[in-house]
Amino acid sequence: MRIFTCVTPMNLEQELLTGATVVVVDALRMTSTAVTAIENGAVGIRPVTELEEARRVAEAEPGALLCGERLGKKLPGFHLGNSPLEYTPERVSGRRLISTTTNGTRVLNMAAAAKKVMIGSFLNAAALAQRLLGAETLVMVCAGNYDRMSLEDVLAVGCILERLRRHEGGCELDDASEAALCLYEQGRGDLLGMLRRSAHCRYLCSLGADAVADVRYCLQEDTHRATPVLSGDWITGFRESARATEENCD
Ligand code: MLT
Repeated sequence: MRIFTCVTPMNLEQELLTGATVVVVDALRMTSTAVTAIENGAVGIRPVTELEEARRVAEAEPGALLCGERLGKKLPGFHLGNSPLEYTPERVSGRRLISTTTNGTRVLNMAAAAKKVMIGSFLNAAALAQRLLGAETLVMVCAGNYDRMSLEDVLAVGCILERLRRHEGGCELDDASEAALCLYEQGRGDLLGMLRRSAHCRYLCSLGADAVADVRYCLQEDTHRATPVLSGDWITGFRESARATEENCD
């Protein structure tokens, strides 16, 4: 398995996507929220890049919840913001979600030409690593913040790769992937402490106690089984109960 890491979306060359399995990581908070929503029973999530397009898509999707943020804050007229703690089973189970966020949804749509696009976070690192076994080429894409590197995304990539390497011996990693692994090995004992150096993490925490709770939640490791995948326009997932069916389909 060849593994490449794009520490910002700017590094994502379209030719790298051909035949590749891509994992998009936006640890604070879009992919953590998507993993939580799918784990809690959401039927699907439609990532939309532009705000007004998200409103239009939601209007055309009866019963859908309009979700997302700009500058980390819930938007006027939206049902949900982008805090994973809002995506409880009571709110999202059985529902379709239309989501637009500052970085994560845009990067997901940039990766759509890949053979397979999956959603990665600290929360589902171990479960996702299992799903990645056997891929020929793996491209880890950090959503970052306004096309600049976000420390938390590189750390989360390192966390996923550390899980993956426990099961896949013959990985060839590019330097960015090795750097992500080294960073994770250094920070794994105190992720929050390391992320005090992250500009986006500091910004989120400046928004108040709820956002601090979000950060603590998003830094949990291997707590979720959902391994969401982008199929066409929708993110869907395979929760533990459906895994047997999914494996039969492989
Ligand atoms: C993003 O898309 O950049 C993040 O999800 C923003 C956030 O949730 O604060």
